[in-house]
Amino acid sequence: MIKDNLRDYITARKIELNAVIMAHYYQPAEIQDIADFVGDSLQLARQAAENPAQVIVCCGVKFMAESAKILSPDKSVILPSPEAGCPMADMATAEALRQKKAEYPGAVVVSYVNTSAEVKAESDICCTSSNAVQVIRSIPEDKLILFVPDRNLGRFVQSQTGRDMILWGGYCPIHDKLSLEDIQEVRDRHPSALLVVHPECRPEVSAMADAVRSTAGLLEYIKNSPAQEFILGTEAGFIHTLKKHCPDKKIYLAYEQFICKDMKLIDLEQLAFAMETMQSRIEVDPEISSRARQALDRMLQIS
Ligand code: 13P
Ligand code: SF4
Repeated sequence: MIKDNLRDYITARKIELNAVIMAHYYQPAEIQDIADFVGDSLQLARQAAENPAQVIVCCGVKFMAESAKILSPDKSVILPSPEAGCPMADMATAEALRQKKAEYPGAVVVSYVNTSAEVKAESDICCTSSNAVQVIRSIPEDKLILFVPDRNLGRFVQSQTGRDMILWGGYCPIHDKLSLEDIQEVRDRHPSALLVVHPECRPEVSAMADAVRSTAGLLEYIKNSPAQEFILGTEAGFIHTLKKHCPDKKIYLAYEQFICKDMKLIDLEQLAFAMETMQSRIEVDPEISSRARQALDRMLQIS
């Protein structure tokens, strides 16, 4: 089918299903453009909890679709690219977390939303990169904190809050790959550009950045900054969002292959097919879901 026909089909089918299409900022441009809502992980979770549509089509990766299902268990949640996972989420299993909890009885478990439903079910509270600092500040000073799974986000939060935390060893292979040498190389070409990065980048990268924010936070920062040029330390798909919101600003990707392949598994054809067949439907075991929901609800109450 040609693209215009696909777009027409998706729009008509959306009405038929009473569906909402949600997309993360890292999604391909054609998916962001057809989505009803584009946002970061926190904004997508809020939409999933609040949007009145009966069907949520989640253009993102599995942990995002699972969170949507946990927050809206009565709705159908469709992940058009069933194989889209998150390598960082896979770095923490529920079994390994149970073992770690046994080592630190009484510790408060804070899990990044980039985790499976099973890991969330073992957690006291979730966080995203938008609200991790506020979540940590909400925990009484005398409590030990176990932070899962992103060691880089964990270190960034420690630098902002002064809290001592036990950090899991996980990381995002795409953000963690950004090195000081890569930055120097772009800076040599664009010496007056500001460096703006996601907190999943390594601590030495975050330490030299002009701004460290979640994707939604970076959008606000770039929009409101008087600067005209930025070196972007996050995934390439976000440039499409930035071009729409700040067409006059110049954005340089911090390294060439800053691409999450899991976020790039959907195209219009696949989205149309998913909406036609209602595949892949996300299901979460009710007992896991209700425990994971408590951790997500606690997060949503804070920020
Ligand atoms: P955000 O919290 O900015 O949406 O980040 C999610 C993510 O997967 C980043 O790699
Ligand atoms: Fe996971 Fe990194 Fe991809 Fe985000 S960018 S979904 S953290 S692998």
